[in-house]
Amino acid sequence: MSDILTLPRPDDWHLHLRDGAMLEAVLPETTRHFARAIIMPNLVPPVVTGAQAAAYRDRILAAMPEGADFTPLMTLYLTEETDPADVAAAAESGLVTAVKLYPAGATTNSASGVRDFDKVRGVLEKMAEIGLPLCVHGEVTDSDIDIFDREAVFIDRVLDPVRWATPGLKVIMEHVTTRDAVDYVRGVDSGLGATITAHHLVINRNHILVGGIRPHYYCLPVAKRELHRVALVEAATSGDSRFFLGTDSAPHVVAAKETGCGCAGCFTAPNAVAVVAEVFDEAGALDKIEGFLCRNGADFYGLPVNDGTITLTRAEPQSWPANVASGDGTVTIFDPARPIHWSVTADT
Ligand code: DOR
Ligand code: ZN
Repeated sequence: MSDILTLPRPDDWHLHLRDGAMLEAVLPETTRHFARAIIMPNLVPPVVTGAQAAAYRDRILAAMPEGADFTPLMTLYLTEETDPADVAAAAESGLVTAVKLYPAGATTNSASGVRDFDKVRGVLEKMAEIGLPLCVHGEVTDSDIDIFDREAVFIDRVLDPVRWATPGLKVIMEHVTTRDAVDYVRGVDSGLGATITAHHLVINRNHILVGGIRPHYYCLPVAKRELHRVALVEAATSGDSRFFLGTDSAPHVVAAKETGCGCAGCFTAPNAVAVVAEVFDEAGALDKIEGFLCRNGADFYGLPVNDGTITLTRAEPQSWPANVASGDGTVTIFDPARPIHWSVTADT
């Protein structure tokens, strides 16, 4: 393949933009390369109602860098009190693109998530009826389940039963980290997709723990052993349209990462596309990168592929600044832990 690739502007099917000063600092890092992103609703307090989603979308649009062409695709945070009629109204007006399910306690700001799945049955049925997808953080939270097993156990205990109980519900299993999840998604013919992050394509659990604890590689779901990373690379580079990029770029200030109880999240917005290009190049699969970055997710969500292009160029190893400054503090940019030869430019 050539050393220069021109692709339609890609989408990020899972992104944390936060709010206020942090939103202002990180939004340009996404709009530089991506045309759209699914915006996670785990603010404090969470984005639960259509009115809250509309207000959050307005704050994102107000923070847009000059000249940016970017569409935030809003989501609602599913709680046991979520009103099916509010969800339906928000979907029908075009305000929201998906609903997000966090099992209560699974990750950052998930305390308002779901404990009893029977309590959200009405919302899920309404979503199936109107074709509104459910984005799922797929980890159980039971204290007796080892953190490295929480995704695999979630598939058996929650995801599979919920899918069977709600025929027609479109589900995205987000940021999959295991061979188990890849196999599960491959076994379902329609209505189930999965996002894969850039960081889970290049790190395994050794990156977090060997030679000292490295908090900037700690995210949830936590990176697993190497065989799982290899399964993710195989899924992403296979051309299987059920898999697409969702960066899960999740900024936290350094003080919240480098501490006795550090937050989960890798801030990958600045280099996610370049990291993906490196992985596809190494796999000899650059002919499949357009599907993973630009087409598969759009097809799954029933949206058109974006207008405009980006150009990927293979050259000498790239470097990035170590961090991005925000009014709340400094955010460390993800270190891919390998040379990245691809640079990304947005075409005008
Ligand atoms: O690593 C993560 N960070 N995983 C999540 O699910 C949430 C996210 C965050 O909001 O920081
Ligand atoms: Zn996330």
